[in-house]
Amino acid sequence: MKLSIIGSGYVGLVAGTCFADSGNDVVCVDIDAAKIAGLARGELPIYEPGLDELVKRNVKEGRLSFSTDLTASVARSEVVFIAVGTPEGETGEADLQYVLAAAEQVGRALTQYTVIVDKSTVPVGTAAKVRAAVGAGAKHPFDVVSNPEFLKEGAAIDDFLKPDRVVVGVDSERARKVMAELYAPFVRTENPVLFMDTPSAELTKYAANAMLAVRISFMNDIAALCERVGADVDAVRKGLGSDSRIGYPFLFPGVGYGGSCFPKDVKALITTGREHGLELDLLRAVERINERQKKLLVQKAAKHFGPDLSGKTFAVWGLAFKPRTDDMREAPSVEVIEGLIGKGARIQAHDPVSAHTARRVFGSRVTLCETPYAALEGADALFVVTEWNEFRRPDFDRVKALLKSPVVFDGRNIYDPAAMRARGFTYFGVGRPNPE
Ligand SMILES: NC(=O)c1ccc[n+]([C@@H]2O[C@H](COP(=O)([O-])OP(=O)(O)OC[C@H]3O[C@@H](n4cnc5c(N)ncnc54)[C@H](O)[C@@H]3O)[C@@H](O)[C@H]2O)c1
Repeated sequence: MKLSIIGSGYVGLVAGTCFADSGNDVVCVDIDAAKIAGLARGELPIYEPGLDELVKRNVKEGRLSFSTDLTASVARSEVVFIAVGTPEGETGEADLQYVLAAAEQVGRALTQYTVIVDKSTVPVGTAAKVRAAVGAGAKHPFDVVSNPEFLKEGAAIDDFLKPDRVVVGVDSERARKVMAELYAPFVRTENPVLFMDTPSAELTKYAANAMLAVRISFMNDIAALCERVGADVDAVRKGLGSDSRIGYPFLFPGVGYGGSCFPKDVKALITTGREHGLELDLLRAVERINERQKKLLVQKAAKHFGPDLSGKTFAVWGLAFKPRTDDMREAPSVEVIEGLIGKGARIQAHDPVSAHTARRVFGSRVTLCETPYAALEGADALFVVTEWNEFRRPDFDRVKALLKSPVVFDGRNIYDPAAMRARGFTYFGVGRPNPE
């Protein structure tokens, strides 16, 4: 099939590339001319494992191309995906201006019957708004389908090629057939395409992210209680996760959830509830716990070193909101670093792939180091904020020798507290018995 993907960011670029890889003829469109020019030169705008190779192969084989010309791409397409950003609006709602602007342009560009797919995360009722926006300028028939995306940055290709499920909200048989054919290569019987009405599809995406955020905040609350009563959250986590009704995923306490999705999607769902006269109390608590959690490491540092951290230098390992991505949107590292700088500290940070993103976020206020060890030189403590694999088994003797004082704040519980103490570190984790 001939496809256009409008918006070539984390979702659009992955979706477009994977659809091309299954044999479709795909144009990825973006309004960001620099992004498209870079892609045309073979330079990816984002770090996503495996994407570079897949893009190059599909470009070479003539199935994938990049353009700023939405009108020309849509004119030749049977299916158009809208995968632009839906950032947080002023009152917590999802800001639909990019989706609706794209939909209007798409409408004017149609030259034949076209299936228009909302891939962006959008609140209940958006399919109807997109239909109206497309319809305003359309001279050809079209259907609007809701097809929220569940990929995880850092494992996006695998998630897209082998999804747990594909959710499609659709109210036309013609569009349903097109979507079934498009996704057939990616699904097996046990990984279904779930067809449903559009409001249910739109809500499913928010409910999934909210559920995952609930689990994280729940564990962060349990971790806080563990610290107060002298329990070890790691033992509690294993005891919980082994219950088949509960399971292990998303039970890790830490420095709070971040990223481009959970924070804004939880807020948007709360706002949708309010617009319909319903206070989603559980989700409000989830947000409060998360805000508290993002401040935890700075509080621990202030307790250990005193409230004034001027004259102190801290090493920070990990800046991306999670491993295997360069995405720092709403990353807990920003809150940790700003909190430490706010108390007068200097920061030397390292992240395996996010230096270019961090430079945009912090400018020259943070020293970005090429290696994890360089960040440790002369530092008063190490803060582990993102659990990249390369931080899990460092040369601890070298870490200790480079640090001015052997203090570690482990925001992801990647080290064994007893082993760290045996190596001579003053070790602070999350929800684990504290040294003081
Ligand atoms: N990032 C994720 O992990 C993820 C996962 C699932 C769902 N989502 C959802 O997918 C959507 C996109 O997220 P993202 O992370 O890919 O965003 P992104 O910011 O990385 O990419 C969006 C792209 O759309 C482009 N754009 C905006 N308006 C345009 C227009 N009129 N025409 C062409 N291009 C336009 C922007 O220039 C940008 O490159 C959001 O709704 C998000 O909530 C994201």
